Order: sequence, then C-alpha cells, then structure tokens
Amino acid sequence: MDLAGKNVVYLGGFGGIGQKCVQELLQRPIKALAIFDLTENGQLLADWKSKNPNTDIIYQKVDITQKSDIDAAYKATAERFGHFDVVVNGSGLMNDRLVELSIQINLLGVINSTLTALEYMDKAKGGKGGLIVNISSVAGLEPTALMAIYSAAKTGVTTFTRAMANPIYYAHSGVSFITICPGFTDTGLLEDIGNKTTFTYDTPMLAMFNKVKRQTAEDCARNLVLAIETAKNGAVLMLELGESQELDMPVMWKPQIEN
Ligand SMILES: NC(=O)c1ccc[n+]([C@@H]2O[C@H](COP(=O)([O-])OP(=O)(O)OC[C@H]3O[C@@H](n4cnc5c(N)ncnc54)[C@H](O)[C@@H]3O)[C@@H](O)[C@H]2O)c1
Repeated sequence: MDLAGKNVVYLGGFGGIGQKCVQELLQRPIKALAIFDLTENGQLLADWKSKNPNTDIIYQKVDITQKSDIDAAYKATAERFGHFDVVVNGSGLMNDRLVELSIQINLLGVINSTLTALEYMDKAKGGKGGLIVNISSVAGLEPTALMAIYSAAKTGVTTFTRAMANPIYYAHSGVSFITICPGFTDTGLLEDIGNKTTFTYDTPMLAMFNKVKRQTAEDCARNLVLAIETAKNGAVLMLELGESQELDMPVMWKPQIEN
C-alpha cells in the first residue's frame, strides 16, 4: 500500500517497537495518525506533532483489556479522520506469571481491536477497505517453552490473522491482513525475564534466552513499515536480525469433502 495520504491507527505506538514504527511512518506523507496506548507519552507526542505539522496526530487512551476503551477510541478516531486505511495491533505484554492478563492483552485485545476496526473498514458496511497488521512473534511460530503462555497467545494471533486473510473475507470486506513475527528485539519487553517465565524454578533455558541475538527496534520498524507498503494479503513475515522474510506456512490438514 502506498502510504501517501493515508490515515493510520497504531496500537502500542509509545512502546519500544511502536515508537520506531511511528517515526518510520512519519517519514512518509501520511495524512493522519492515531496512537492508541495505555499511557500517553506527552513529550514524544508533542515532538512528533511539531516536526510533522501536515499530519493530524492524536492520542487515544486505550487499555486493550477493556472493550469499552477500544470501542470509544475507534469511534472518536473515525469521527476525527472520517476513515482509517491501516491499523497496526502492536500492544503486548510478556509476563507468564500474569496468565489471564497475558491472554487478554496479547490475544483477546488483538481480536477485539481487529473486529472493532472492521466495523469501520469493511466495504460491505460502508467502509473503504484497508490493511490490518497484527504483531505476533517468533514465539507465535515455534513453541517457546520458557514463555508458554505468551507463546500460546502469539500462536493465537498468527492463526487468527491468517484466518482473517481468507480470500472469501477479503472479497467481502476489502480489508487485507498481514502477520508480523519479530525475533528478539531490544525493548523493555525483554527486561527482567527471570521474573516473568512460566515457572519459577531455574532452567538452562533462561541462560540461553539471555544470550539470544537481538535486533534493534529501528531495524524491526523499518521492515515492518516496508511490509505495510509491499506485503500481500495473508503474508506472514518474520523480522529477524534486521532481515525480513516471508514465510511459507506448512499445510498440516485439509478438510476431506463428501461427494
Ligand atoms: N521485543 C521483542 O523482542 C518482541 C519480539 C516479538 C514480538 N514482539 C511484540 O511486539 C509488540 C511491541 O512490543 P515491544 O517490544 O515494543 O514492547 P514494549 O513493552 O516496549 O511495548 C508494548 C506496548 O504495549 C502497550 N500495552 C501494554 N499493555 C497494554 C494494555 N493493557 N493496553 C494497551 N496497551 C498496552 C504498552 O503501553 C506499549 O506501548 C508486542 O506485541 C510484542 O509482543 C516483541
């Protein structure tokens, strides 16, 4: 998608990867940008606004565990922008000691945000179509035992997003979907991992986890925004160590149809 003149909604825009993605997006002539996040980073917001006077930049307070917050933020954004073309679901939490919250933020939040965004974007409901980008993880591709709950939630995001990209839905709604699976990326999400693992006892996995190579948030953001511009409906992209690779997802099962 050519981002010139487009209206973008970014959930988690003040986070480590989110900030860098917003900065990358603002290098394009986008028309408007709404940041949905738990807390406002007033300094960053003011900086972005002053450096980008031609882009309408707003903040909406959203606790993604609260459906009422999601509903209110999309409603206010639609009223202000008229419509939106791109939504990036980029909120997240990695803390397996908080089981319900992990599922609420990483999976249920993405599902609720996606379904709410579709209410406005779906061509069959008077919308203009567009693109929804859901941020999963490499932990949403391979079971990650040290963070089994997070891994389960992210696997849910991958599968949900691929299901949403079904061509039958696309023909109906005009909304395409891509799944982004970053590898380890240097942000606050990876801090204090020892106190966030699925189990409290020590395992060799923790020492290994701490030695896994990381990419910068800038590298991740550059490839994420490039994916918005170039990826096809249904693409699953792994963003690992500064590279972007479209994955060929294996087909494990096909329904056998009665004649
Ligand atoms: N950092 C990594 O290694 C890595 C790897 C793969 C995937 N990811 C995913 O990338 C995305 C961004 O992660 P990050 O590394 O920038 O982490 P981060 O902790 O820096 O940012 C997380 C963002 O989510 C927001 N958030 C958390 N709880 C929320 C809630 N209840 N309601 C609304 N917003 C909430 C935070 O405010 C923040 O903006 C997440 O989905 C994360 O799971 C990160």
